[in-house]
Amino acid sequence: MTNDHAIVVEGLHKSFGDVHALAGIDLVVPRGSVLGVLGPNGAGKTTAVKVLTTLLAPDSGRAIVDGRDVVAEAEAVRRSIGLAGQSAAVVDELSGRENLEFIGRLFHLSAAESRTRASELLESFGLTDAAERRAKTYSGGMARRLDLALSLVAHPRVLFLDEPTTGLDPRARNDMWAVIRQLVAEGTTLLLTTQYLEEADELADDIVVFDHGKVIAQGTADDLKDTIGGDVVEFTVEDKGTVATALRAVSGCGEGEPSATEEGEITVRAGRNGSAVLLEVVRRLDKSKLTVFGLGVRRPSLDDVFLALTGHKADDDDEIEGAA
Ligand SMILES: Nc1ncnc2c1ncn2[C@@H]1O[C@H](COP(=O)(O)OP(=O)(O)OP(=O)(O)O)[C@@H](O)[C@H]1O
Ligand SMILES: [Mg+2]
Repeated sequence: MTNDHAIVVEGLHKSFGDVHALAGIDLVVPRGSVLGVLGPNGAGKTTAVKVLTTLLAPDSGRAIVDGRDVVAEAEAVRRSIGLAGQSAAVVDELSGRENLEFIGRLFHLSAAESRTRASELLESFGLTDAAERRAKTYSGGMARRLDLALSLVAHPRVLFLDEPTTGLDPRARNDMWAVIRQLVAEGTTLLLTTQYLEEADELADDIVVFDHGKVIAQGTADDLKDTIGGDVVEFTVEDKGTVATALRAVSGCGEGEPSATEEGEITVRAGRNGSAVLLEVVRRLDKSKLTVFGLGVRRPSLDDVFLALTGHKADDDDEIEGAA
């Protein structure tokens, strides 16, 4: 069974003093699939990645990566994985090409092989034009792409990406997603951490949600969204006196009854049928001749998921510490 799984984690614990960074994590990642590890700051994502990539020894529990134990067979694990960590491994003073060739030599490729591999990766990451420039002159997006390229020099079978797009602008994020999708299409198993549900949604087959070192939910992106009732259609009536009329007008469009805030914002739960419910709401509003603004479908955000799962917002850290 383990053979079908690129990663198997059982009862993993890791504490730093009295902080339980990992408080009993279990997870499995089938070969060739993408697991998204979602969670707020301090949830334990990086700690898990460090244990799985042999950089940190667990206190207890077991982790198998590509069929090898990360503690007893750390050396073998290192040969089959790639890691792009949260702090980039790029050497600023070297050019993009030199960075790649340097890693090639570390992995015992010959000088010629290192050069060929560097050229391949520069090409597929759109860095050929910048190849001879020092990495410190790269933009944030270019540096991230180079960092990811560095993790791929040795053709890893299992790849770990710790928040690969945090801090990137939307375009750079899209470019990064395209590169990652290509890797997955080629059969690489991927474990990716992120704070964005949207990113996990785009890339992951399965998602686990970490909070305070524990897995508090898992499933597909759709499963997670279902836990909070799926899409919502929202709009605001111009005249607050028409709220009751508007509620009657859109009653029965979505799942359950629509609700309204004091500001006149009306929410219709749409499950997985956001667009269909939106159309029906538009028809009904048109018929009722009400004036509304801000009409649209909203996908649940990580905050919505967190709120539903834990009863607190993802960034309410103080409150959680106090309550624990
Ligand atoms: N070397 C360390 N020494 C002490 N505490 C640590 C150490 N590394 C992590 N921690 C603590 O363990 C907890 C989990 O940290 P971790 O870095 O795994 O979180 P994370 O989910 O990666 O957060 P972020 O989204 O901010 O990267 C935090 O409370 C953190 O302060
Ligand atoms: Mg982290």
